[in-house]
Amino acid sequence: MDALTALITRTSQGALTEPAPSADVLNHAFQAALRAPDHRLLRPWRYLVIEGDARQQLGELFLQAGLMDNPELSDVEQQRLLKMPLRAPMIVVAITVTKDDPKVPEVEQILSTGAAVQNFLLAIHAQGFASMWRTGWVTTHAHIQAALGLAAHESIAGFIYLGSAANAPRVPTPLTVSDFVQQWSR
Ligand SMILES: Cc1cc2nc3c(=O)[nH]c(=O)nc-3n(C[C@H](O)[C@H](O)[C@H](O)COP(=O)(O)O)c2cc1C
Repeated sequence: MDALTALITRTSQGALTEPAPSADVLNHAFQAALRAPDHRLLRPWRYLVIEGDARQQLGELFLQAGLMDNPELSDVEQQRLLKMPLRAPMIVVAITVTKDDPKVPEVEQILSTGAAVQNFLLAIHAQGFASMWRTGWVTTHAHIQAALGLAAHESIAGFIYLGSAANAPRVPTPLTVSDFVQQWSR
């Protein structure tokens, strides 16, 4: 797939199944992520790969965190949390590693992580696999952050669910470029 086609055709895929991206595919996607624009080359990102039984362990972690916040969680809700990471054969956790720099505020480092994740998603798509970037309360819960090994200067940019598309790709609503782009001059 050429680069422009990959850029224009990528969509998120909630229904993900086996096979997960191979080691080669994943390595290419991480190479793409590591090419994100990065002010002063701080490299303010790192990634965790969660697959196989580790997804069950992540589900147990989500459940523990959910019960900490609400010990009265219904059985249905408990099962939902437990099974959340089983929605895909592989999950990559994208982490911003905020560096102390006089010229690069944290927001730029988070933007760089966002660019890295987008490079990653596009590289996954270009190689025939599918993905879904997910966040929510699980990204900011202290118990989950600690169990994933985050330090105080780190934050989760997203849980990237990865696999093969179970359904035909969603056809995105076409947007009109001129609704979002204007010429400017004084
Ligand atoms: C930072 C970020 C966090 C997101 N978190 C979620 C999420 O928790 N749940 C969800 O359904 N979609 C989430 N999305 C949106 C989807 O990943 C997806 O981009 C959106 O549904 C639009 O679909 P498309 O990518 O096919 O255009 C998030 C997107 C971004 C950029």
